[in-house]
Amino acid sequence: MGWLGTVFSKQQAGENQDYAVLSADIHSHLIPGIDDGAATLEDSLEMIRGLAGLGFKKIITTPHIMSDYFRNNPEIIREGLEKLRQAVAEEAIPLSLEAAAEYMFDDGFERIFRQGELLTFGKKCILVELSTYTPPPNLRALLFELEVAGYTTVLAHVERYGYWFDDVSHIEELKHHKLLVQVNTISFTGNYSPRLKRNAIKLAEAGLIDLLGSDLHSADSLPLLAAALQEPQVQMLLSSGKLLNNQL
Ligand SMILES: [Fe+2]
Repeated sequence: MGWLGTVFSKQQAGENQDYAVLSADIHSHLIPGIDDGAATLEDSLEMIRGLAGLGFKKIITTPHIMSDYFRNNPEIIREGLEKLRQAVAEEAIPLSLEAAAEYMFDDGFERIFRQGELLTFGKKCILVELSTYTPPPNLRALLFELEVAGYTTVLAHVERYGYWFDDVSHIEELKHHKLLVQVNTISFTGNYSPRLKRNAIKLAEAGLIDLLGSDLHSADSLPLLAAALQEPQVQMLLSSGKLLNNQL
């Protein structure tokens, strides 16, 4: 836990020393062997221990479901979750584990939605990611249908969707459709890219962020997640009382 000690020593009094105030992390790839996240059970456990060390009490992990690359389904995800829960219990890691999915907004998603097989968390929330190149042409219509069906759509890592950042009022407008905005905490460090850091700050300053997520794919990112605690916007968000992580 060397990296954790370094971060703590740099914290100012009164600031959040960890992510305990969030309670729940709602975006990660921890079920081994089913997407581009954890490859082995040991990988998973290393990430879960790290998240517990950063103050999280609950993890809602979200394996990819994409019609092209990751053809996961509720059975595969639930089976993986059960194995992981068993391992977490055996190690007595003090946090609870749930699973939903990170859906790519593709044709496959529409089919799954119409068949009523969406994996949800909290009060019928679904985590959805978009293409980073171009917004889906049917986005508004589909968001409306989801809203009518009682779902709350959580848009994953909104800072990646560059096509909305000339004018963030596009995002404000979408939020009228019961839509929640999730940002990857690590984006604030600038380690993914300076552009993502700029976009994340823009969303924070516009008061548009509802949820933070680790989007953890590997234990290598744990030091970055810890380092993000030194970013003023992350501290501001954690202290704002406006994030919804602890309600899920
Ligand atoms: Fe993800």
